[in-house]
Amino acid sequence: MAKTMSSGGTQKLQERMTKLWADTQGSQAWNSIFRPGSIFRKGYSDSPRNRSYVVMNSVLYHLHPVKVKRHAVKVSYTLCLGGLSFFLFILLTVTGIFLMFFYRPTAAQAWGDIYQLQTSVTFGLLVRNMHRWGAHLMVLSVFLHMARVFYHGAYKAPREFNWVIGVILLTLTLLLSFTGYLLPWDQLALWAVTVGTNMMGYTPVFGQQVRFVLLGGGEIGSNTLLRWYVLHVLFFPFVTVIFMAIHFWRVRKDGGISGPL
Ligand code: HEM
Repeated sequence: MAKTMSSGGTQKLQERMTKLWADTQGSQAWNSIFRPGSIFRKGYSDSPRNRSYVVMNSVLYHLHPVKVKRHAVKVSYTLCLGGLSFFLFILLTVTGIFLMFFYRPTAAQAWGDIYQLQTSVTFGLLVRNMHRWGAHLMVLSVFLHMARVFYHGAYKAPREFNWVIGVILLTLTLLLSFTGYLLPWDQLALWAVTVGTNMMGYTPVFGQQVRFVLLGGGEIGSNTLLRWYVLHVLFFPFVTVIFMAIHFWRVRKDGGISGPL
């Protein structure tokens, strides 16, 4: 009698488990993961058509091209300098957000905040140096990337448009670097920006107006600091992200990385 009851219970449990399994497989969540074209799909066969499906159906895989040329993945061809520039930009964004928690862009507080950051904040000195060295390295890697592109003649058709986007990215990198230079509000920063803005004052026709807009007044002061801070942490990074997206999209549209010489 007890045996019959326990076998009845097992049967019920089995039925419930089968129903649960069938319900799970029929659910929207399951079907959105194990849909046709997904690498998780049962019986996935590695054909060029299925590979295209996988890439087109996943946001993450979509960032990668369906096919890459053999020379394009060789480190010795691109030296990964474009990728390195992008990596440094991400590093600068992350370390920059950390620095923003401890920095106030006013003439009275800026220098003291940086000093406090270096001396009293855990990992403050390390993160500040990562940001500073990262910025120097990014300028270098973008220049070297441009030299690599030039050496391979990759500025020629059909990549002329991307070369122009590249020149804009180089300008933005230099502007990011220069606007960041003022923020520590030390003697070096103050005089470097005084020299820089004085040079801009010699721009033909609009020189004085350009200088006035950049300084936020007749001479360097708290207005300049706030202005350059907003440009450094918001405006230039935002514009750079947009141009980088166009740059990467164009690499794909121009048929991937150029061929070897
Ligand atoms: C923030 C700056 C930049 C970033 C993050 C960046 C990123 C990249 C990446 C990831 C590639 C793919 C191949 C590679 O890694 O070399 C690439 C290709 C390319 N970049 Fe840049 N780039 C930047 C600046 C520039 C500059 C300053 C120029 C030229 C003035 C330029 C022109 C090009 C061209 C023409 C290609 C296609 C190269 C080929 O097909 O061989 N880029 N870029």
